[in-house]
Amino acid sequence: MANEYEIKKQICDIGKRIYDKGMVASNDGNISVKISDNEFLCTPTGVSKGFMTPEFICKVDRDGKVIQANPGFKPSSEIKMHMRVYKERPDVNAVVHAHPLYATGFAIAGIPLTQPIMPEAVIALGCVPIAEYGTPSTEEIPDAVSKYLQSFDAVLLENHGALSFSDSLLSAYHKMESVEFYARLLYISKQLGGPKELSDAQVKRLYEIRRQFGMKGKHPADLCPNAKEGKPSCHGCGGNCTCNSNDSDLVGEITRRVLEQLNK
Ligand code: 13P
Repeated sequence: MANEYEIKKQICDIGKRIYDKGMVASNDGNISVKISDNEFLCTPTGVSKGFMTPEFICKVDRDGKVIQANPGFKPSSEIKMHMRVYKERPDVNAVVHAHPLYATGFAIAGIPLTQPIMPEAVIALGCVPIAEYGTPSTEEIPDAVSKYLQSFDAVLLENHGALSFSDSLLSAYHKMESVEFYARLLYISKQLGGPKELSDAQVKRLYEIRRQFGMKGKHPADLCPNAKEGKPSCHGCGGNCTCNSNDSDLVGEITRRVLEQLNK
């Protein structure tokens, strides 16, 4: 693993990218990287993520408490959201939060990214659900996001923005780029009369390819009960599918018990 100073520089580079690409305005967005089980580097609150230098970066523990921060810098106001991702997804080493224009537009319109319109988005993301609105900086956003963590590597945040996470900072950033690109394409194709969606069989084939590649992270191809049952994907769930096999087990158990009672 790169040394701490190198990671701080990488965080600054990614901050500049999300700012330069218009994925954040002003002081918006935040980034964090896990460096050990109880040490995380994160962007400070209230600064433009496009103009950071390594001394801006703060270090916190797994509860989001400050371990080290230079004078004038405090950890991101959204640190609880980042920490929830690390807590519930031990495979994650980096989290990126941004407000990309098109993806955030969909999050504001309440439209999850579920239409299968291009192979790369289907393979990289599957679909992107919307986590219910929460007040920034409170536990409401972590609680809303939690529901989707076991099935996806990116979520939209209702009326707010997007969140992506992965095993490396570059990969988490790439997922944010993929979410925004998917949202832009979906928006444009809607203007052009509506997208021509990939067929169920085409989606199924892409899911198989993803499995063959052994791609890391959580993805409906590996987890969605529909996909497991040989049905095409979670794309038909309108973004409401949490693709959580425990949920589907629970529903199955409840159904079994209700039927048992009815048959008595
Ligand atoms: P911070 O500057 O506190 O990280 O907050 C930015 C933001 O985008 C909140 O959603």
